[in-house]
Amino acid sequence: MHSDHIIDMEAVRFAIDRLHQSRAPRDKPVTLQPEVALPAQFPDTGVGEQAALEALSDLALGQSAQLHHPGYFAHMDPPTATVTWLASLWQAATNQNVLHPDVGPAARELADVLIEWVKPFFSMSGGHLVPGATVANLTALWAARDLRGVRQVITSNRAHLSIRKAAHILGLKFVEIESASNHGLVLPADLDLTDAAVVLTAGTVTTGAVDNLTQAAGAAWVHVDAAWGGPLRFSERFADVLDGVESADSVGFSAHKWCFQPKGTAVVLFKDDKAAHEALSYGGGYLSAPNIGLLGSGPATALPFLASLLAWGRAGLAERVEHGMAQASQLVELVEDDARFELWGRPTTGVFVWRPRNVDLVALRVRMNQGWVAIVDVDGEAWLRCVPANLSADVRALFAQTTAALEQT
Ligand SMILES: Cc1ncc(COP(=O)(O)O)c(C=O)c1O
Repeated sequence: MHSDHIIDMEAVRFAIDRLHQSRAPRDKPVTLQPEVALPAQFPDTGVGEQAALEALSDLALGQSAQLHHPGYFAHMDPPTATVTWLASLWQAATNQNVLHPDVGPAARELADVLIEWVKPFFSMSGGHLVPGATVANLTALWAARDLRGVRQVITSNRAHLSIRKAAHILGLKFVEIESASNHGLVLPADLDLTDAAVVLTAGTVTTGAVDNLTQAAGAAWVHVDAAWGGPLRFSERFADVLDGVESADSVGFSAHKWCFQPKGTAVVLFKDDKAAHEALSYGGGYLSAPNIGLLGSGPATALPFLASLLAWGRAGLAERVEHGMAQASQLVELVEDDARFELWGRPTTGVFVWRPRNVDLVALRVRMNQGWVAIVDVDGEAWLRCVPANLSADVRALFAQTTAALEQT
């Protein structure tokens, strides 16, 4: 066997040890443009495996944003659990290809199991894994165009930019409707939807708002972009936030957001998966099974996803999502009890928009040692945005850091 394929347990221990050491929360934020001490050009001679890992470990582990840091509450990017990244290691090491049954027999089965597990929560009949909600949205609108003759995509001006991208790629007219003040889409009653795919959002990227998901019954196709909010369906307490999703023609959600998966994991589901998959299928001389959807070769992202779901069960995933909702409620209480702060609105999907009154937020954030929040533009004004994707985030500490930074002004 070639030495590349013999597992070097010393290198494995080294890599895991370094990862383990890098987990301790840092007391200083990382710089946004770390120095990269690597050859400027592709070196002729390699340094060997262990030396390569050593050369990269400080940068890759020491200079990565600590998504599990108690102060981290800024974006839709979760830290991953041990079971998840270990299964990802198996995925990378076995490098299966879901395109071919003979290069990914188990991987294909796992993907099917995964879809079986998640589809009932959205009342869909099937679907497939995609690398992100961007691709889920494109794939759903592709099916809409080819199955129902859709000519235009109608959505709110709060929809994610991937909807505009998809309409452009598919050659469909893109119609954006100004949302209501709560950022929900309200379709005008006289709008002709007979050749339209209406895209409703369950968790807008800026404020986490959810559109009324039952308002587009007359449309040729209804797609729900539940990139962020989708996993609320796994919680008995919060499933109703997405009431109406069951009547959509398609739904997409990103597992690499609120299902705590590594990047590249998302799902697109269809009400009629047979028709959709037929419309999205290409066969070809060298393929022993039809190639469904946008990707050719595809990774076995079902493996870490299933490993996580198997480890946690539905209740465990729900508990994690509910933890995020509780973090948001805790922040609401703190903000409402302090007259120096204001809320943009009550969070519906845990995404939380707030700010101290009359303060330069950029300067404030610089003074917030180890408190990560995003600054977003909402209707021309700057607000702080928090996203509860980090189960280790300490809301009280974050609020204390914000008030401390405020007191320094
Ligand atoms: C509402 C919404 N749709 C789509 C996307 C794109 O998702 P992805 O980054 O998984 O492609 C996002 C990302 O934040 C989102 O918030």
